[in-house]
Amino acid sequence: MAIISSKKQPSEPDRSNAQLEDLSLPLQISESGQRRRQSGVELVRPESEPEEHGKPEEGLRPQKLSDYVGQKDLKDVLDIAIQAAKVRKEPLDHLLLYGPPGLGKTTMSLILASEMGVNCKITSAPSLERPRDIMGLLVTLQPGDVLFIDEIHRLPRITEELLYPAMEDFRVDIIGGKGRSARTQSIKLAPFTLVGATTRVGALTSPLRDRFGLIQKLRFYELNELAYIVLRTASLLNTPITTEGACEIARRSRGTPRIANRLLKRVRDYVQVKASGEVTQEIAAEALELFDVDPCGLDWTDRRLLSFMIERHNGGPVGLETLAASTGEDSQTIEEVYEPYLMQIGYLSRTPRGRIATAAAWKHLGYQPPDSQLSLMS
Ligand SMILES: Nc1ncnc2c1ncn2[C@@H]1O[C@H](COP(=O)(O)OP(=O)(O)OP(=O)(O)O)[C@@H](O)[C@H]1O
Ligand SMILES: [Mg+2]
Repeated sequence: MAIISSKKQPSEPDRSNAQLEDLSLPLQISESGQRRRQSGVELVRPESEPEEHGKPEEGLRPQKLSDYVGQKDLKDVLDIAIQAAKVRKEPLDHLLLYGPPGLGKTTMSLILASEMGVNCKITSAPSLERPRDIMGLLVTLQPGDVLFIDEIHRLPRITEELLYPAMEDFRVDIIGGKGRSARTQSIKLAPFTLVGATTRVGALTSPLRDRFGLIQKLRFYELNELAYIVLRTASLLNTPITTEGACEIARRSRGTPRIANRLLKRVRDYVQVKASGEVTQEIAAEALELFDVDPCGLDWTDRRLLSFMIERHNGGPVGLETLAASTGEDSQTIEEVYEPYLMQIGYLSRTPRGRIATAAAWKHLGYQPPDSQLSLMS
């Protein structure tokens, strides 16, 4: 395991906020929001994992609560918690963030540390295999520090049990010796904030879940919020884009900032090679058709899932494992990545007997829904 400090980011290009003024969101990109924080973030990861700070998305993360687009309820709750903790000169309560991938859990955790003026150590549950992995992290925390554990539902049992007293009383208990000579030694820790992130809150044990003072869900983003994120990223990437172009990308981004940023980069490539000038609505649509992203943001796998349910099972119900076999995706990916958005846009519903493609999904794929489905709609 290695402890790695954040890398120095490339210098930011000069940008203007003019493009963003068309969208009626209260946020503006501040100069400080565009700058990478170059200290205070440590990344703890197993040797084998890719270095997250080397990911291209790192430079696109908002740095302050006011730069974090959308998620108003979450921001309101955290804003109060931060202000109260600062007044009391105490660390923030432990926070559990849950929601589908790419909605901003890691970003929010970095922002929290930055707003509190403390360090953030980032790790991922599967890398905390041995007790000494988590011990090594806990004992090096400074007062108030944020410890971010990604995929916290995958914590090994033994690590989880070490975390209980750490979260509750800021101490860890080590048992030395065996049998009758076994002794428990307690080590005091600096008060800290644990931020856990998960895509599967239901997979957390209740003792762990109950130790979080704040449990917050991240929701899919609205179209205008995503359009704003696209404009912001385009500005950071020095890519000229019209508001309509940003809306087109936003519409196809499955309510997810990470996807919005990814699609913008594909469109940027397309413009560079096939067109020139700014990204307009037509160019964005043309490029994304080429990348097989349809106007609702559905990709090959989504369409394959739905058309399999419709063509082979008359819309369902179909079991999760059968769906997984039909697309070659594993069932967990379908459950955590594909289904949440399909359910959000009303194309799929989960029932105790299996998954059902709704009438809207039939229509979107160009099929005539059966009467039984239509009657559900009315
Ligand atoms: N509210 C937001 N405003 C602007 N950009 C955002 C926001 N949320 C996320 N992003 C962008 O989306 C990218 C993905 O966000 P992040 O890595 O925080 O997601 P995540 O929820 O941690 O995903 P995962 O579950 O896969 O770990 C970030 O690089 C950031 O640029
Ligand atoms: Mg993350």
